[in-house]
Amino acid sequence: MKIGVIGTGHVGLITCVTMSAVGHEVVGVDADPEKIQILLDGGCPFFEPGLQELLDRQITEGGLRFTDSLPMAVEGAEVVFISVGTPPRASGEANLIAVENSATQVAEAATDDLLIVEKSTVPVGTAVRLRTTIERLRARSDGRIEVASNPEFLREGHAIDDAMEPDRILVGVESTWARDRMRSVYAPWIEKGVPFIETDIATAELAKHACNAFLALKISFVNALARICERAGADIEGVTTTMGSDPRIGGAFLRAGLGYGGSCFPKDLAAFEHLSKTLGYDFRLLQEVARINDEAVDAVIAKVKDALWNLEEKKIALLGLSFKPGTDDVRFAPSLRIATDLIDAGATVVGYDPVANNVAANDVPGLLVADGPYEAAAGAHCLIVCTEWEEFRKLDLVRLKDEMAYPVIVDGRNIFDLDQMEAAGFTCYSVGRRSVTQ
Ligand code: UGA
Repeated sequence: MKIGVIGTGHVGLITCVTMSAVGHEVVGVDADPEKIQILLDGGCPFFEPGLQELLDRQITEGGLRFTDSLPMAVEGAEVVFISVGTPPRASGEANLIAVENSATQVAEAATDDLLIVEKSTVPVGTAVRLRTTIERLRARSDGRIEVASNPEFLREGHAIDDAMEPDRILVGVESTWARDRMRSVYAPWIEKGVPFIETDIATAELAKHACNAFLALKISFVNALARICERAGADIEGVTTTMGSDPRIGGAFLRAGLGYGGSCFPKDLAAFEHLSKTLGYDFRLLQEVARINDEAVDAVIAKVKDALWNLEEKKIALLGLSFKPGTDDVRFAPSLRIATDLIDAGATVVGYDPVANNVAANDVPGLLVADGPYEAAAGAHCLIVCTEWEEFRKLDLVRLKDEMAYPVIVDGRNIFDLDQMEAAGFTCYSVGRRSVTQ
């Protein structure tokens, strides 16, 4: 099938490469000329494991092209995915102007019957708005244009695997014509037995917000439990292992730590809460989830302040700057708030991340970055683990201690074994576990 993809960010670019990998003919377009130039030059505008290799392969094989002309991406297409940004307004509401503009431009450029598919996470009701807008435009021309919803469940850092081997595919449609078109798009997955959930459009839009809100709820629930464990002398890991062995609860997303960041959960939760209010339902549970998430970062900062007393003239090392391992994305990363807070309090802060040093340093004035974990730790009075990159679990603790001015670690992701910390001579504060003091 011929497919157009509007927007080549974390969702759009993965859609481009995976749709082309299963044999569709794909053209991607982006309004950002810099991004398109990187792609036309054979590069990749952000880090995602396996993406560069797949891009190279699909472009060489000829099934994937990029353009800066939206009409070129739409020409001859049977399906066009809209995967542009939906940033939050100050109120939390999703700003949908890019979605509206893309859809109107796509409708104007359509050369044949066309299915326009929302791939960006959008509040329920967006498709109805899009349909009305498109119908007003189409009063001037022929040809069938319909709207469908097909939310994405990709995790950054695992995006290619999640797209190629998804748990489920969710499609919201309102005609058999649209349903058949979406079944053709996803035929290679349906043949492999991937569950294909078909709903009406409003249900699909709402289901995506429900999934992200529920996952964020699990994380905040565990982080609230961690606060209680610290006060009660209990161990969060024993608590979550017990909870997770009940299949009704499930073990995933029960890791206590610095809480969730990234471009999805914080924004989607705020948008969902705003939308619920608009619909006349005050979903206060979501506010509490966000509050507990902020509190998780506050608690780690409080541990650092408590361990170091005055922060002026202290050097603090941050290990991990991206919002989670496997990505260079620092949007809503806890590390940024920690760095800003500690710098404001007078400390010198040096971060190290395997891939996100530059983006983080650009975002936080005064944040220094180092080329490796030991360099970041050199002369530090405290080291904070902000992101659980695998390489940090394998650090040589003797060397680390030798590098540091004080042997103090605040493990914001519970990556270190406390007995080993004790044996290595560290004072170590983590999340919801006992404190190790020397
Ligand atoms: C999330 C969802 O997992 C995807 O299903 C969804 O498609 C995506 O949002 C989206 O809406 O586009 P992502 O933001 O890439 O994906 O990251 P996750 O792996 O879900 O992690 C989110 C945050 O939760 C990270 O900051 C992570 O550190 C944190 N987390 C996760 C915890 O603090 N504890 C956990 O147990 C799990």
